[in-house]
Amino acid sequence: MTNPFPHDKTLTNDLLDWTRDRIAKIPNTQYGAKPADELEKCFGHAITPSGVGGTESLRIFTDEIIPTVRSQSSATNVAYVPAYPSPAALAFDAALGSSGIFGGTWEAGSGAIHAENQALAWLASCAGFPETAGGVFVSGGTVGNLSALHAARHKWRANNTSDKRLAVLASTEAHSSIKAVLDVMDVELIKMPVDDNGEMILDALSDVDTSNVFAIVANAGATNSGAVDDISALADFSQKHGIWLHLDGAYGLAALACPENRKTFTGIERADSFIVDPHKWLFAPYDVCALVYRDPQIAASAHAQHAVYLDPIRKDNWNPTDYAMHLSRRARGMPLWFSLATYGTDAYAQAIKMTIDAAQAIADWIDDQEYLELSVRSKLSVAVFRPKNMTDDEIDFWAETHRDNGTLLCMPTSWQGRKHLRICLVNPMTDVDQITTLFASLKGKP
Ligand SMILES: Cc1ncc(COP(=O)(O)O)c(C=O)c1O
Repeated sequence: MTNPFPHDKTLTNDLLDWTRDRIAKIPNTQYGAKPADELEKCFGHAITPSGVGGTESLRIFTDEIIPTVRSQSSATNVAYVPAYPSPAALAFDAALGSSGIFGGTWEAGSGAIHAENQALAWLASCAGFPETAGGVFVSGGTVGNLSALHAARHKWRANNTSDKRLAVLASTEAHSSIKAVLDVMDVELIKMPVDDNGEMILDALSDVDTSNVFAIVANAGATNSGAVDDISALADFSQKHGIWLHLDGAYGLAALACPENRKTFTGIERADSFIVDPHKWLFAPYDVCALVYRDPQIAASAHAQHAVYLDPIRKDNWNPTDYAMHLSRRARGMPLWFSLATYGTDAYAQAIKMTIDAAQAIADWIDDQEYLELSVRSKLSVAVFRPKNMTDDEIDFWAETHRDNGTLLCMPTSWQGRKHLRICLVNPMTDVDQITTLFASLKGKP
């Protein structure tokens, strides 16, 4: 029998050599997103009945594809939420990919799932959750939020009914994924106003009719402003009304890795669930979100899929597939586990501290410049500011010019209805002087 997929050792070695170099190299910030028709001209010939062969496929990847993709981890990328995967996590991810592990059921992936559970247990302990807490790594914050809120509604429905459409409370600063998830669930989003720091105004809660509300989502590091809601007060409110408290910490809850930040999230230990994306600020590669439940059994009863062909799977084992909106999965939490095991949690604490210190130093510098206005300084690594003398178009032009020439990725946002610039740091090696020197060009016209 001829194997349709013969192993080409040279190709494997070439790929591994490239991978080794890529991990060791400082990423190139000069990239250019190309239009699809241009890309089609470069590698439109790739998919044919006989294939183009490994050498040509690898050439397309290294020469045509890689120059068009942005390095998320460069020290001058302070836009959106960048990434800074550790070298150990990156190298391990390559090994994990070649292991072909199925991480859905204990029977198929016990050791890998146990390692993932160790990483989840560390996160749960940072949050002060009980040892019985547990969860699963999913592809991203959106799926994590969806899975948590589905479990929340499942629990609420077991004890309540309402003639009205069900609803969830969250602030106007909640991430767009919350609205997207609630649309999928056909649930109303009741938006709470925020103060000048982006934190939910608690007084507004007293006006809410909670008879159809099954969950409240607290920001544990809002993406745009870095705001952290008053989690203790929201835990009191949730407890009083018998509703689920979920924390969206996709970006911000990474700060728990540094014990001195835990006070920022006081009350988290009383939440029902939280998410944090290790691909954002826990130094793991895409795509991974840690979803942790106080009571994982509720999640399993909401999410476990049933089919006759799945009957042989033993339910007395920990099957990650049961804890979120998915079935098949790779053991995507393992690069985090490997990175934690390699460097230790102290290195994580140090890296988080370095990042926050750098962000605060940049915010201090902005605050000192008479031509800049610091509108939001978060307790984490986000700051929002405005060049006082620039028009909106000039701000756009400044940001796009720096993006296009690869010197800096710092994109505009909006704060209280006005155009602003925003930084979000996740790279502990960010050089404050390098960033502030680039920001000095905001003094004149672009
Ligand atoms: C606070 C917050 N929640 C949820 C998400 C959605 O996460 P993902 O992009 O991993 O689906 C993000 C993404 O930036 C986020 O910052």
